This record gives sequence, structure tokens and C-alpha cells, in this order.
Amino acid sequence: MSTAIHKKVEVLLQQMTLKEKIGQMVQYNASWDLTGPAPSETSGALPYKELEEGVVGSLLNAISVKDIRKAQQITLEHHRLKIPLIFGYDVIHGYKTMFPIPLGESASWDLEAIEASARVAATEAAAAGLNWTFAPMVDVGRDARWGRVMEGAGEDPYLGSLVAAARIRGFQGDDLSATDTIAACAKHFAAYGYAEGGREYNSTDISDNVLHNVVLPPFKACVDAGVATVMNGFNDLNGTPVTASSYLQRDLLKGAWGFEGFVVSDWASIAELVMHGRATDKAEAAVLAANAGSDMDMEGYCYSEHLAEKVQVGEVDMAKIDDAVRRILTVKYKLGLFDDPYKYCNEKREQALLLSDEHLAIARDVARKSIVLLKNEGDILPLKKSGQKIAVIGPLAACKDVPLGSWRAQAITDSAVSLWEGIQTLVGENAKHAKGCDLGIGNRAFILELTINEDDVSKIPEAVELAKNSDVVVLAVGEDCWQSGEARSRVDIGFAGVQQQLMEAVVAANPNVVLVLMNGRPMPLAWADAYIPAIVETWHLGSEAGNAIADVLFGDYNPSGKLPMSFPRHQGQIPLYYSRKQTGRGESVAPSVFWSHYIDEQNDALYPFGHGLSYTTFEYGDIQLNTSEMSMEGSLKASITIKNTGERAGKEVVQLYIRDLIASETRPIKELKGFQLIKLDAGASETVHFELTAKDLAFYNSMTKTWGAEAGKFELFIGSSSREVQMVGFELR
Ligand code: BGC
Repeated sequence: MSTAIHKKVEVLLQQMTLKEKIGQMVQYNASWDLTGPAPSETSGALPYKELEEGVVGSLLNAISVKDIRKAQQITLEHHRLKIPLIFGYDVIHGYKTMFPIPLGESASWDLEAIEASARVAATEAAAAGLNWTFAPMVDVGRDARWGRVMEGAGEDPYLGSLVAAARIRGFQGDDLSATDTIAACAKHFAAYGYAEGGREYNSTDISDNVLHNVVLPPFKACVDAGVATVMNGFNDLNGTPVTASSYLQRDLLKGAWGFEGFVVSDWASIAELVMHGRATDKAEAAVLAANAGSDMDMEGYCYSEHLAEKVQVGEVDMAKIDDAVRRILTVKYKLGLFDDPYKYCNEKREQALLLSDEHLAIARDVARKSIVLLKNEGDILPLKKSGQKIAVIGPLAACKDVPLGSWRAQAITDSAVSLWEGIQTLVGENAKHAKGCDLGIGNRAFILELTINEDDVSKIPEAVELAKNSDVVVLAVGEDCWQSGEARSRVDIGFAGVQQQLMEAVVAANPNVVLVLMNGRPMPLAWADAYIPAIVETWHLGSEAGNAIADVLFGDYNPSGKLPMSFPRHQGQIPLYYSRKQTGRGESVAPSVFWSHYIDEQNDALYPFGHGLSYTTFEYGDIQLNTSEMSMEGSLKASITIKNTGERAGKEVVQLYIRDLIASETRPIKELKGFQLIKLDAGASETVHFELTAKDLAFYNSMTKTWGAEAGKFELFIGSSSREVQMVGFELR
């Protein structure tokens, strides 16, 4: 922290009353966009009285320059010390211009593209008066039933850490006080993604081994990247709701990791300590949370109603209040809000920047990079722009809304370029469209109640007829965007409604099918993999979805995305991830029945983590190591030559994994430790170099509670996915 800011904060703090201090620790919902259960205390309007009393530190969900300016004005006109509000909002994958959902963007493995996307989102949000986004969500997601896997970077802590840091660079830039940067927020600290059974808001119970080696590294990466704020979570972790966890928030985050920003609670997560059975009432909840290091109470009404009295009776130290307020004021100073509280409020900028052509062009580029070609048998893709009759079928083919995704901030309903529009732009009359069926979830306008599984098959015959009279079928199926995201856990992650029937009928009529998937989570695709020659994963791709998908389908863009989450053969395999442990009865015990397996399905993923094809082919040479014995202080250099053996330029994500064979605590069979995205012209080769040090081989030992690498034998893998790899051994001494 700069000393100038430090001094200003101290001077201000000296002048503040206890009531004013606690006011800074309070965040209310401005109710223009409700993102949690409405507390009975609010009427749905601005908290005028509290703003006038100067006992509010922040608002969330205040939208537009006009409204933000109004709230700021009320505060400043009445506040004795003129402390500005900070305005937070969930800008998750774009503000007005929509980018792919974060899981989709992570499939690009393109950190520059991910940073560029966050940059645009920040620019638009800041132009609309906001100063703070509740992103990135860095929860590792290994259970596809959990709807919020769409919001993270997938199953891997290494990829997740790099993606998180890229997003923070994009949101915060180099200078938080610039008018086009906003404060980021790493969430949900911690382990929220491990909700039991994938059921939203459920309890989490995980070992220290998993907590430190899998869950926490992306958060640590955010702190190292200078994230301004952190949000805690709703979950009870190993018996302690994380909002009341002193270990997580004080010992680890603010202690060992040296985090200087502030911690905001999740929506009413402090008040929920009562429901958890951890606090008798909201007063006790306030004490627990404040003592544990939750600096700001989002919509919980615990700090505003009870914290002052609890400080007065000595249940919370004044030093802790000062620490929280110091942190909050520091972020406000860094954002430049004290110099000019209206600096983000500029209608002209808002008009000029939101949904600008430049932003849409970046959205299209990031969207293309996020597409994963899962299968392309017989090179059915890319399609020809002429000389082929193309049927564009499916409930998502002409949909202009679902591609905008869940957590869509201020996206305009029905504003995405649909796949049908994108295809028409490229091939005009050569394409014809039939819907085939609905998504099967009832009236999607009622986003809070998507329980109906419709069975209307009346539109299927028309689609079958069109398929019969076409050379090739582009079939767009998947999930509604409201089937993923917060509070959208599913026990059945397959295709809702009659989509499966539509697929089967269309394939029977014309086997030349390209399946275009739009979804927010991995789906079980065993049937599609068996019967459909080409499968393209497009997630919910954002404003430019249709154009981006058409670019890929017709070969104007050669796909290079790789899966950030394993796609199961069957949903009963969930949780499914490549970085699993070997167990005491691994494959080597097979074919005896007494090994760790299912009797009715294979163990491995249908499409593993890191998988993704291209329209060209890449040949991997042999792995070269500079030494087969690495010292604790030294490093190991690995290189491999990749050749583009196809006929067009393409990109490849070259992935490096390691395995620690024998250790004092069991280690996964593979762990990603490096990757490089390379671009190769047809016929060209490139040698890719990686360097590992003992730090890359280190893990957290839950007995000794320390990080370190252990001497012994390792395996090193390089390849095009977590499955397609070559292996060499080396030893750490
Ligand atoms: C979510 C957070 C979000 C907050 C504010 C909560 O329900 O869990 O991720 O930032 O609402 O909208």
C-alpha cells in the first residue's frame, strides 16, 4: 500500500465514530437487480435513510450512471466525512457486451484472450458507474451437477490459478484509479464448489489435503496477482461456516498470504450463521463474523443492527473494526473515489462504450477461441459454404437468448447473434431451419422455476423431413442458460425434454450430423459420441455466439479449445476429474473384479480434461530432458517438438503433467504443471520448452502442515490432453 494512502486512511479513521466505522462495513442491495433472496427489511428501494445517515459503505446491484450518481450524491451531501460509496455488481462475463461464460473462456487456455475479455467487461462496467465486480469466481469445479461450474475455470487448480490471475489483470489493470478499471473479487472463500452431491449451498466436508492442494491455490494466485477484495461463501466447511472461519480469513488469507484488501460476505452469509446453527441470533452472528475477519456484511443486517453494541460490550475488539475499516477505505482510496467520487459516472462514456463495435469484435474473437471440437470423424467439418444443402435444426439453433448465458449482468434479452443468423450470413439460401423441439424446461421466462420436463414431440417430423432433404445437418442442442448458474444444481445433467428423441430421429434420417452443444456444464455424451460424427462444444458463448460458431463450422477459424472439465460417459461417474488418486486397487489389479471400478461403465472420462481437436493434426516428437536427476535447488528442462502435419495453420495447447510416484501423502496420477499455446503453419514445427523447479513438485502435507517437494521418483508427461501423453521418468534428489 502506498504510504500516502496509508496516511490518509489513518487520518480519516481517527475522525470516525464507531457508528460511522460500522457503516463502512455495511453493504445493501440497491434492488435494481436482485441476486439473492430479498430480506424482509428492504422494500426494494434505495436505502435512503441509511444513505443520509452515512451508515452505508457500499451498494450492490445499483445500475446505470444516473442511479449510481444519485446514490453517491445522497451519501456525500449528508455524510459528515464525505466518504464515498463503492458500487459492486456481478460482472462475470461481460457487462453489456457478453463474452463466453467463464468455463467456456477457460477452454481457450488463452490467457491473453481471457484478460482481454475481463478488460472489456471492466471498461463497460466502469463506464456505467461501477467500481467493483464480484469476479472472478475461482472455485474449483469437479461436480457437474453444481450449476456454478459455468462460472469458474473448471476442475484444475493450476489452470484455474492462471485464468484467475488473467481475469484480475483484465479487471484491475495496472492502475485501479484509472476510469476503465474496477476492483476484482476472488470468490467464494473457500471450498464452496465442493457442495455435497453438487447441491447448491450444501455443506462441504473435505480433507486438508484437498483444501490446500486443490481448493486454495487459485485463491492464493489471486492474492499474488493483487486482487483488491475476496468474498467468503455460504458453505459450512468441515463444521465451520466459512463466513465464521478465522482460520481461513485471518490466519491464512490476511495472515500467511498477506492479503491487504477486504473480505465481503456473500449475500446474507453472516445472517445465515443462525440458520447453520452456529449462532443463536444475528447479534452473535455479527460477533462471529467480525472476529473471523469478514469485513463487510452484504445484505445480512447483522453489522448494521448489532455490531456497535457488541463492540461496546467488548465482544469484538475495536482493533478488529479498525482493521476492517482501514481495508475498505484503502480500496476506496485506490479506486480514486475520494479524489472524485463521480469519476466513473460519465454518461458520454457509458453511451460510447457499451456494446461498441470494438467490444463486439473482441467478444467474437474470444468466443471462437473458446469453442472445443470434441469429435470430427471423417473430417465432416469444416463445412463447405456452397454446394451443400444445410439443415440447421434444434431448440437452440435460432435462439438469441440462451447464448448470453447465466450471470449476464446487463445483457439485453434476445440480443445474441443466433447460430442460425451466423450461418445465414455465411451461406445464405444454402441453409434451412427447423426447430425440432423446445428445450423441454417449460416457460423459460419464469427463470426461478424450471422444473417441467416437457414431452411435446410435434415439431420433430418437420425437422426429420428437412434433415432427409439436406446434405448435412447442424443440430444445436444442450441446456438453457437458466439451467446452470447459481441455484441451478441438477441431478440429471443430460438433455432435458425430448432433445434426445430429436437427436435420434434426425440421425436416423441423415447421419451426416454436426452436433453443436450449448451448455453451462459438462454433459454425458455417450450416445452422441457413438452415433454422431462431429461434436462441437460451444458453451454459452455470449453476444457474438452465432458468428463465432459459424466461423468455426465453416473453417474461417480453426478451433483450438481444450476442455477445462472432464466430460463423463455417464453422470453416475461424477465427481469426475483427471487428477484423481490411484487407490490401492487401481487398473493393475484388473481383470479381477476386485479393483476400483464400476461394473457397468468405464472409469475414465468420455472426453478428458485437456481434450480438443483441430482441423489440422499435430505430431509430437519425443520428450527430451536435460537431466534425469534434478536437485532440490536446481531445475529440470523438458522440451518436445510439435509438427503441424495437416494442411492448414492451427493452434495447439501443449500440456505438461507430472506424477509424484511415492510420497508421504498420496498424490494424484497426473497434475497439470505447465502448458503453452502455440500456433503452427501447415508443415511447420516448433520445439516447446518447459522448466520445472522443486516448487512445481511441492505439495501440502496435511500432517506436517507445510509445503514442500519430496525426493524420489516422478513421471513427466507431455501431450495434447490429460490422456494423450508421452511419459518419461526423472528423479528428484
Ligand atoms: C452469490 C455471489 C454474488 C452475490 C451478489 C450471491 O448469491 O453467491 O457470488 O456475488 O450473490 O450478487
